[in-house]
Amino acid sequence: MPLLQAEIDSKNAQFWNELCGSLAAKKLKISDFSKESIKKFDDWFFSFYPYLKKNYLTLDKFRNKKVLEIGLGYGSVSQFLAENAAYFSGIDIAEGPVNFLNHRLTLIEKLPCARIMSVHKLNFQDNYFDFIVSIGCFHHTGNIKKCIEEVYRVLKPGGHLVFMCYNRYSLREFLHRPLKTFISLFKVARIFNQAERWHYDRNLVGESAPFTELVSKRQLVSLCQTFSLCNIRVENFDEPLRKYFLNNIGKKLGTDLYIQCIK
Ligand SMILES: C[S@@+](CC[C@H](N)C(=O)[O-])C[C@H]1O[C@@H](n2cnc3c(N)ncnc32)[C@H](O)[C@@H]1O
Repeated sequence: MPLLQAEIDSKNAQFWNELCGSLAAKKLKISDFSKESIKKFDDWFFSFYPYLKKNYLTLDKFRNKKVLEIGLGYGSVSQFLAENAAYFSGIDIAEGPVNFLNHRLTLIEKLPCARIMSVHKLNFQDNYFDFIVSIGCFHHTGNIKKCIEEVYRVLKPGGHLVFMCYNRYSLREFLHRPLKTFISLFKVARIFNQAERWHYDRNLVGESAPFTELVSKRQLVSLCQTFSLCNIRVENFDEPLRKYFLNNIGKKLGTDLYIQCIK
């Protein structure tokens, strides 16, 4: 039976209380939240996703501007945004990432400005932000359409939005679930079962994220039609061949879709 929105929110608030990225931190042998350990994590994060700063978080879009990030996780992107924006606000449905980002901001002598909030009900006035970033969050919320409507509302005319959602037609899906991927061509939504979710996001004790859906470019173009511009690019490639294919096959059949919109 499909989960109700309140159930998804409550499960997300509990599950994501453990910082997204904790498995990677464990592999990096990070066991504390000191400035040095955070730097070690962030250095790994931005070298693992080299296209982030290069293509999507370019300073011209947000330096000295009003910036919102939705879905914070370990906070590497958040700190980068906070260090360069004129005004930064970070929101997340779970307490863990909010507390951790506020800890990060205190370490770099910035005001703690992360808050618990759902992207489905943003407590900001209309036309407020110049730049909104959300990496890997909307597809976990149970309602991507509502996410896009809310960010559209709080974004200024001419403002930029960048978000990442999982690609319904990635090589990972064609290889692991060819039949379901083919059938999904004829379906409106592609919502994962528990085993499938595990393949994408799991916590330190091996539990899957509560809700995950995959999206297609066509679906996103339709969802983002209120924006004056919408550009979608494909990124990311699985280990162990990541270093060979990130910059070629990864750009065609990668696991992630990056959507850049202008209001
Ligand atoms: C997969 S993590 C991504 C974190 C980070 N952006 C990154 O790239 O590592 C998804 C994040 O979205 C948050 N999230 C899930 N549902 C949300 C909602 N309805 N509103 C705001 N944040 C939400 C989770 O708590 C979690 O921190």
